[in-house]
Amino acid sequence: MEDRDGQSVSLWMEGPAPAPPVLAADLDTDVCVIGAGIAGLTTAYQLGRAGRAVTVLDEGLPGRRQTWRTTAHLASAVDDRFVELERLHGAEGARLAADSHASAIDHIGRIVVQERIPCGFRRLPGYLFLAPGGPPDLLDQELVAARRAGLEVDKVPRLPMAGFDPGACLRFARQGQLDPVAYMAGLAAGILRDGGHLWSGAHVIAVEGGDPARVRTATGPTVTARAVVVATNTPINDRYAIHTKQAPYRTYAISARIPPGALEAALYWDTGDPYHYVRLRGDGTGEDVLIVGGEDHKTGQQGDGTGPYDRLEAWARVRFPTLGPVDHRWSGQVLEPVDGLAYIGRNPLDAPNVYIATGDSGMGMTHGTIAGLLITDLIVGLPNPWAPLYDPARKTLRAASVFTRENANAALQFAAWVTPGEVPGEEVIPPGEGAVVRRGLSKVAVYRDPEGSAHACSAVCPHLGGIVAWNPGEHTWDCPCHGSRFSALGEVLNGPALSGLAPAPLR
Ligand SMILES: Cc1cc2nc3c(=O)[nH]c(=O)nc-3n(C[C@H](O)[C@H](O)[C@H](O)COP(=O)(O)OP(=O)(O)OC[C@H]3O[C@@H](n4cnc5c(N)ncnc54)[C@H](O)[C@@H]3O)c2cc1C
Ligand code: FES
Repeated sequence: MEDRDGQSVSLWMEGPAPAPPVLAADLDTDVCVIGAGIAGLTTAYQLGRAGRAVTVLDEGLPGRRQTWRTTAHLASAVDDRFVELERLHGAEGARLAADSHASAIDHIGRIVVQERIPCGFRRLPGYLFLAPGGPPDLLDQELVAARRAGLEVDKVPRLPMAGFDPGACLRFARQGQLDPVAYMAGLAAGILRDGGHLWSGAHVIAVEGGDPARVRTATGPTVTARAVVVATNTPINDRYAIHTKQAPYRTYAISARIPPGALEAALYWDTGDPYHYVRLRGDGTGEDVLIVGGEDHKTGQQGDGTGPYDRLEAWARVRFPTLGPVDHRWSGQVLEPVDGLAYIGRNPLDAPNVYIATGDSGMGMTHGTIAGLLITDLIVGLPNPWAPLYDPARKTLRAASVFTRENANAALQFAAWVTPGEVPGEEVIPPGEGAVVRRGLSKVAVYRDPEGSAHACSAVCPHLGGIVAWNPGEHTWDCPCHGSRFSALGEVLNGPALSGLAPAPLR
């Protein structure tokens, strides 16, 4: 069970990762953290530093889900932009958001030094440039709003790149980057040194708040704790409340060698929707790898296989003609909160001593670090100025139009109950592919393995009954409603669903 998210391979996946033992017995601890990505491991690390006994449960290996698929920009320049954050959260909210992301980068830098983690963490500038046809006053407005939020940002005449000049752009100081696999390994080592425990093979199926709170796993063991942190990227302990406030998006990245000196080592992103971004793995002087990302779309709603990768590559080749052949291409999922900021804090439902971190957006590396700092303060009883801004129970009235649009989109997906199948019959599905087939009143998810044998599951998502769609890029079944994902054979890969697709008979 190396990486259960899909078949694509990111450029970080060569790196070694810790392999904790499989949970086999009941445990009692101060804090049980579910999920060993950046959010869960940072929270466990902080709690361990604060003297708490911590147990981390994961169904797989640490850092091997979305954090394995990141492009690991560390940005205080929030990708939804400060003009929008001011509109949604007011000037003080935008200032606190900038402060929290900048503090997260500072904190990562401190951990890297203290723990001596060889993860290539470095500070570098970030450039925001106009996408073709973008309104020129957008950058001026963003400059004013970002400065008001407290960031060090200037307008400069052009990007520090040889062959690509989209005109004036904004330069944000003190952004960052790192190798996420090495960083995760360093955090895990720190957790163990401070007396914490990491467990794998622990698929959590229930979380009950209380004192003690209880965490139940599919294989039997139960963990009791004074507090539980659900850091499973999308909360597995909530059926509706949070899932109506965030929407799942697929996001794509490619990497390729580029000669030294083609561009300054920095973060670059445009104002497009979907947007494109670029960074270097390396320092701009040696054997550099260019990482290009973007082409996001709603999960399960655009099944054109390699299309997003082809579009990313075409976008990059126009701008970087010296780019070598593409060596990796991969995708992952991010959860876009309706008001631009993650949901971090006490679980909004009546579940005492349960905390969540979700709504990562494309800022999950800093949001995950903010989660570690904020949830630790909440658990140990320290005040934290960011708590109201990230409160999962918040209602952002000015985000009502996005809330309505995203939920209308989710509701529309249930129309798939009455539409025809993706193909007329399972006999037309080629080996190695899948498709949803109509059978009378029901729909069936049929996968034909590379040897030609067909496998059938119900196409109905066990979360709230959406109809899944075949993801030809990852060979998974993806639910377009709230982002649950399943393997080709129907095992659950990603919440909010807790169980797999129900078996269905073959014809
Ligand atoms: C292509 C791509 C590029 C990105 N680029 C950036 C970027 O440049 N900068 C940035 O800040 N962010 C970026 N992001 C987002 C960022 O990578 C993620 O938001 C972040 O890694 C999510 O971390 P996490 O801890 O929330 O989730 P994960 O890393 O997915 O960790 C969640 C863990 O929970 C476990 N789990 C789930 N369900 C259960 C269960 N029922 N029982 C037990 N364990 C369970 C999983 O096995 C997993 O290990 C990118 C994401 C992608 C996909
Ligand atoms: S994820 Fe909610 S219905 Fe499938």
